[in-house]
Amino acid sequence: MSLLITNIGELTTNDPELGVLRDAAIVVGERVEWVGPAAAAPAADERVDVRGAAVLPGFVDSHSHLVFAGDRAPEFAARMAGEPYTGGGIRTTVAATRAATDDQLRANVARLVGEALRQGTTTIEIKSGYGLSTLDEARSVRIAREFTDEVTFLGAHVKPADSPDGYVDLVTGPMLDACAEYAGWVDVFCERGAFDVAESRRVLKAGIAAGLRPRIHANQLTMGGGVQLAVELDCASADHCTHLSDADVDALAHSDTVATLLPGAEFSTRAPYPDARRLLAAGVTVALASDCNPGSSYTSSMPFCIALAVRDMGMTPTEAVWAATAGGARALRRPDLGHLAPGASADLIVLDAPSHLHLAYRPGVPLIASVARKGTFHSLCVEEGHLLNASGPHHPESPHKGVLS
Ligand code: NIG
Ligand code: FE
Repeated sequence: MSLLITNIGELTTNDPELGVLRDAAIVVGERVEWVGPAAAAPAADERVDVRGAAVLPGFVDSHSHLVFAGDRAPEFAARMAGEPYTGGGIRTTVAATRAATDDQLRANVARLVGEALRQGTTTIEIKSGYGLSTLDEARSVRIAREFTDEVTFLGAHVKPADSPDGYVDLVTGPMLDACAEYAGWVDVFCERGAFDVAESRRVLKAGIAAGLRPRIHANQLTMGGGVQLAVELDCASADHCTHLSDADVDALAHSDTVATLLPGAEFSTRAPYPDARRLLAAGVTVALASDCNPGSSYTSSMPFCIALAVRDMGMTPTEAVWAATAGGARALRRPDLGHLAPGASADLIVLDAPSHLHLAYRPGVPLIASVARKGTFHSLCVEEGHLLNASGPHHPESPHKGVLS
């Protein structure tokens, strides 16, 4: 089945660069089949008129921690009253996660993945890291794998309070063995109070030896050696990058490592925002992601992250939209995602707005009218007059609603 989406006021393809077309149309099956002027569109099995709306690639959220139980709202309130963020609260979530059943964890991931999808996220990476035992990390990656192809083993999130000694041996040995079959990525929180550079190198190298690809939490709270390690090991992404030396920026600029910025974390910890302008000026590839987790960034909203990046990190609205789509795809090394050229996965957003600029210009407003994954629309709004009702509803129910794989 092919679907023609036409009367697109502004189509952002990210091909090449931002690739903006006016009065455009796109033909999709599971993949994009054709892109061009509406007047030249070929026939297709079905047709949807979006009445001048903007269409852009779905968001690629390359960093989230969704397998957890409970929340930490009191910790957030205390921070807003002046308490610092140290990462110490991770252990509170570990206790709640260990106490939860598989079904409770599964329900929480489903809730958050559904929430993200309704806000335009069509691909989401999900990390483990609130289990910190072989059993609890293994079930975390196994549950994550039910929802996405992009699963990350983060056994090295922090050292568990009950058994810190020898924990790196556990993570790089039996725990990795139990988790590797469900994960494609290995990650480590390289930070004072979590894992130092030598420990982080051990964790990532063991993961690489087990067939996983590396990514890293780097330079979130302090200017440590995480970014340099990311470049040394050709990590797909160095995430956070809040505190960077000139040497860090230079190393990133001369590497294939993406700098993934997570403004939800700075928002929720009252930390200074990373300087995206400085990275872009140096030629670094920048991605934006949600970091959705119950401690430092309890948002699943990529539009919110875009708005913060524009307002507080020196990005233009256009750069931020690119970073949340094509940038995320680079951070996951997925050339099939984040753009709308023929052959790419047909993951797209119809905005209730005439331009992608409105994502930053109208913060907090529900502008995501409809979302398609692999060419299938997920119904968001079935009210009369909805954009996609223009030529009859095209809302086949997804058999896996809330599952991004
Ligand atoms: O990416 N920094 C490490 N991990 C998460 C926070 C986890 C938590 O506070 O629960 C992050 O911000
Ligand atoms: Fe994180």
